[in-house]
Amino acid sequence: MTGSRSTEIADVVAWEALDSRGRPTVACRVHLAGGAVGRAIVPSGASTGSHEAVERRDGGTRYGGWGVRGAVEAVRAELRPAVIGLDATCQVDVDRRLEEVDGTPDLRRAGANAVLAVSLATAIAGARALGQPLWKSLAGPTPLAGEPTAGEPREPVLLPMPMVNILSGGAHAARAIDIQDVLAVPVGAGTFAYGLELVERVRAATAALLDSRGDGTGLVADEGGLAAPLPTNEAALALVTDGIEAAGLTPGHDVALAVDLAASQFGTADGTYHLRCEDRILDRDGWLAEVGRWCERYPIVSLEDVLNEDDWEGWTLAARTLPEDCQLLGDDLFATHLDRVEKGIACQAANAVLVKPNQAGTLTRAQRVLRRAQQAGLATVVSARSGDTEDTWLADLAVGWRSGQIKVGSTTRSERTAKWNRLLELEHDLGEAAVVAHRGVLRGQAY
Ligand code: PGA
Ligand code: ZN
Repeated sequence: MTGSRSTEIADVVAWEALDSRGRPTVACRVHLAGGAVGRAIVPSGASTGSHEAVERRDGGTRYGGWGVRGAVEAVRAELRPAVIGLDATCQVDVDRRLEEVDGTPDLRRAGANAVLAVSLATAIAGARALGQPLWKSLAGPTPLAGEPTAGEPREPVLLPMPMVNILSGGAHAARAIDIQDVLAVPVGAGTFAYGLELVERVRAATAALLDSRGDGTGLVADEGGLAAPLPTNEAALALVTDGIEAAGLTPGHDVALAVDLAASQFGTADGTYHLRCEDRILDRDGWLAEVGRWCERYPIVSLEDVLNEDDWEGWTLAARTLPEDCQLLGDDLFATHLDRVEKGIACQAANAVLVKPNQAGTLTRAQRVLRRAQQAGLATVVSARSGDTEDTWLADLAVGWRSGQIKVGSTTRSERTAKWNRLLELEHDLGEAAVVAHRGVLRGQAY
């Protein structure tokens, strides 16, 4: 589709910026003929799944090998000339062109970080040109080739239920414990702002508990959560549940727990799970039984990456044996990849899909994954990465795409609060035109 001249891409510039871990990442600006400009910086994971789109790193000694000068150069020399002249409001066309230029399924040649930077900056520029907030320009139906992205949003606008990081282990906290994140979900809150207030109370109360027990709160994990070397993984669940009570709230009623186990990080090649902080090795059945016991003892409403990313049979078993009312969320399992989501639907491996745009590599790929999951009745959660930036587009994605849930880390650290603050702004501005997702969203309801 040939857009009106004003929404045509006139220029693309990219440069190396830093993410919240101090590692280089790709920043990009897309300029449209009519003067609108979109700017985006891509995030980066630490516990990356093996099926993600592949970001391009320079290697060598500069920044410990994490440099992205090659990816920046790919934007300048290859992606820029390919998209100049395309209509920025036709995201599907731009993203298809970017994929064609890269030429690899996982975008490793130009680099998924280079491709996503252009894809995101295009969406932002397109929204600006239309005079719309980003969430609104993303709110239309799934665009097919040649169709504009924009469409009328459904009413009321759905604000996502936040999933907020309280305590971290795994790759986010120097492996203080084996499981990666214990999060708080304000299932009893009727507004987004009140939900955030509740979980911040839980974070502060949990920090005070750690302090009073002499475990210290000096360590801060990658996503801004608390990090403490606890004797067992279960102790982390007990601690945050105690934190909910210490905040004067009822566990499970006001605030519940979500756990990102990130089990691929401690699953071994022989199919066992090695809990290093407890010095225990469990086979799959033993591990699932352990997690099942946690669900009986603690108010857990969501379990993410409970098993190894390629153990499809195990995931189907987990879906059958773990409590039916618990969200079983696939992150590394699905890697925001349509084929893997199709496979998961076919073998009933999980009932929820985590959507990380940089796992997919383009906005269109990520949106298709989310739409397919919703169509199949699965819950969806859009997610930031452990290495993130001050950008707020993820908040707009959650609202525009009606994801129902969002996960961006703690209520501390500006790269995290930037997204919460954007959602607070939207709730404020939309007033009665918006509602926050209720707990049914954990069951794939309320889209
Ligand atoms: P990552 O962590 O960004 O390090 O992958 C986030 C998650 O696992 O959900
Ligand atoms: Zn995860």
